Amino acid sequence: MQKKAYIWDLSIRIFHWVFALGYAVSMLIATTIDDDGALFDYHALIGFMLLGVVFLRVLYGFIGTKHARFLYFNFSLRDLGAYLFPFATDTKKSFPGHNPASSYGTILMLVLVGLIGITGILAGEDIDFAEDLHEFFAFTMLGLVVVHILGVIVYSLRHRENLSQSMVDGYKNIDEDKEATQSKGYIPAAIFVICTLFWTLGLTFGYDSRERSVEIPFISIEISLKD
Ligand code: HEM
Repeated sequence: MQKKAYIWDLSIRIFHWVFALGYAVSMLIATTIDDDGALFDYHALIGFMLLGVVFLRVLYGFIGTKHARFLYFNFSLRDLGAYLFPFATDTKKSFPGHNPASSYGTILMLVLVGLIGITGILAGEDIDFAEDLHEFFAFTMLGLVVVHILGVIVYSLRHRENLSQSMVDGYKNIDEDKEATQSKGYIPAAIFVICTLFWTLGLTFGYDSRERSVEIPFISIEISLKD
């Protein structure tokens, strides 16, 4: 028997949509705007904003609510096989939080955005191989995002449940004997929003459009945004 239960707390949901929107806008600017144009700098500024957001999400992976914690992710290869090829196995496991595919996918996306950021900074410092790697990681991420969205669609059709709705209201269908998230996560969500706003404001004030550089908040290191 299945019931609707609270799974994704507010911080996770806000993180998700800030992360998704930030990546989409940054990627759109990078692929459509000429890199000599002033608007191109915003692709790097949004990238820096995302690095801060990823840092907070990683932290939340250790101290956050139940299904936000990495400890509750499922990295079992046997479960991954059974999840991806349900017709080849007779097990019918259900996963209240991240399923095995989205457990690996989430970690990969967080790592990739970190790598995109680091190689982007090195590319700005004229390190030769960094620009190629930066593009490689950015397009690998794009591939992963396409797979992620297809995964959400396939899951929704297979389980007759609109999974994307769970990233809006936090509720998902789970087996009755599985545990839901107890806390709504309003306080961590408020902290997350305030930290993200401060970080974004810091980057905005640290941005020098004439020099095409940004001074990173708190550590006062100046980074070139030129290609
Ligand atoms: C219309 C577009 C999208 C929809 C409907 C959607 C939906 C979802 C859903 C339902 C989950 C939970 C998966 C699960 O049950 O384990 C999820 C997780 C996630 N999605 Fe998306 N997603 C979308 C776009 C994106 C994009 C563009 C990105 C990245 C750029 C992204 C990154 C993530 C990440 C990192 C998680 C894990 C969240 C966490 O644990 O913090 N999503 N998404």
